[in-house]
Amino acid sequence: MAKGLIKTLQWGVPLARNALITGRPFLLYLKPTARCNLRCDCCNRWQNEDGPAEELTLESINQLLGKFWKAGCRVLTLWGGEPTLRSDLSDILSAAKAIGFRTAMCTNSYLLPRHGEAILPQLDVLLCSLDGYGSRHDELRGTPGLFDRVVESIELCTAYPSCHPKIWASIQRDTVDQVDDLAYLAQRLGVGIEFFPISLIAGYNDEIVPPAGHLETAFGRVIELKRKGLPITNPDRALEIMRTGASFSCNFPQIAISVDHRGEVYTCEDPAGNQLHGWGDHQQFEPGEVFSSPEWRQVVTNLKHCNLCRLPCMVELSGSIMRGLASAFVSRKLWRSWLPSGG
Ligand SMILES: C[S@@+](CC[C@H](N)C(=O)[O-])C[C@H]1O[C@@H](n2cnc3c(N)ncnc32)[C@H](O)[C@@H]1O
Ligand code: SF4
Ligand code: SF4
Repeated sequence: MAKGLIKTLQWGVPLARNALITGRPFLLYLKPTARCNLRCDCCNRWQNEDGPAEELTLESINQLLGKFWKAGCRVLTLWGGEPTLRSDLSDILSAAKAIGFRTAMCTNSYLLPRHGEAILPQLDVLLCSLDGYGSRHDELRGTPGLFDRVVESIELCTAYPSCHPKIWASIQRDTVDQVDDLAYLAQRLGVGIEFFPISLIAGYNDEIVPPAGHLETAFGRVIELKRKGLPITNPDRALEIMRTGASFSCNFPQIAISVDHRGEVYTCEDPAGNQLHGWGDHQQFEPGEVFSSPEWRQVVTNLKHCNLCRLPCMVELSGSIMRGLASAFVSRKLWRSWLPSGG
């Protein structure tokens, strides 16, 4: 009990200090690789040609995790590219857990049925991407059998109670009619689901971006299903922004810091993966100096009205950070994504 309390304080006090007092990031987004094993219709990141030689070593990752932990970052999210392509992924995650991070990973799930045993015990939150139901998902991601692998990955998590899977469901032009199928799938699997509209990557995914009218219908239905008790975990306010396309004040650049596969530190990226503001190599990056600099404050202020994406975690924590965090702690399902295991 006392040990649990100490752990929660060690974890929660710096987070609250960064979030509410100093205005520094508490979320660390790391791309362990830019490589990808899929060629999705929605995303062009697979076009990055960097291979393992360009990637941060485990040792460098360990070093940078320590640096950002000291600076008050408490939640590590791995993404990419496809993080499961790193053969030392479980070592990266166990290094993060040993430091004390809450760990999350966003994945296409293709390799999880094969590698889940090594990865899932080290994760607190598993975000499984779904672009559609059944064969529609497989078509949009160009991979027969992928939908079944996502379902299998989520089912695998039942063997690891500290790992909380969640579906991250994009809404695309051809999937606006699949909201019910996806929400009922989440209910059957006993997991939460978050919906978000796919963002435009001009010249790459123009045809699949749903027009405003389709989004109004799709998110109107998501709101109805949530009221009916389906396990939709987007806050009502975020769903309303997604339904109406209203602009929002983005806090993400203030609360999150990102590091790419080469070790470049940056503030957020657009839907095509272009970094919005680069801060240089992680070895030269001094969080204390940068986070208190006028340049940092300027970047954070300028990006408040960016509105280039509508990813769930960004919209949820938009507007008032205090309100966003309060809803995260009040909602049991969001609570699980934020507190350390045992907290
Ligand atoms: C870039 S992927 C990287 C992680 C992993 N490869 C995956 O597919 O989950 C991270 C998330 O971005 C979402 N995504 C991809 N293209 C997008 C776009 N154009 N707009 C919004 N989200 C997008 C994916 O569906 C996924 O949930
Ligand atoms: S969405 Fe994920 S799996 Fe698909 S191309 Fe982008 S990085 Fe790869
Ligand atoms: S709107 Fe999206 S892309 Fe723009 S700063 Fe916020 S999180 Fe980043």
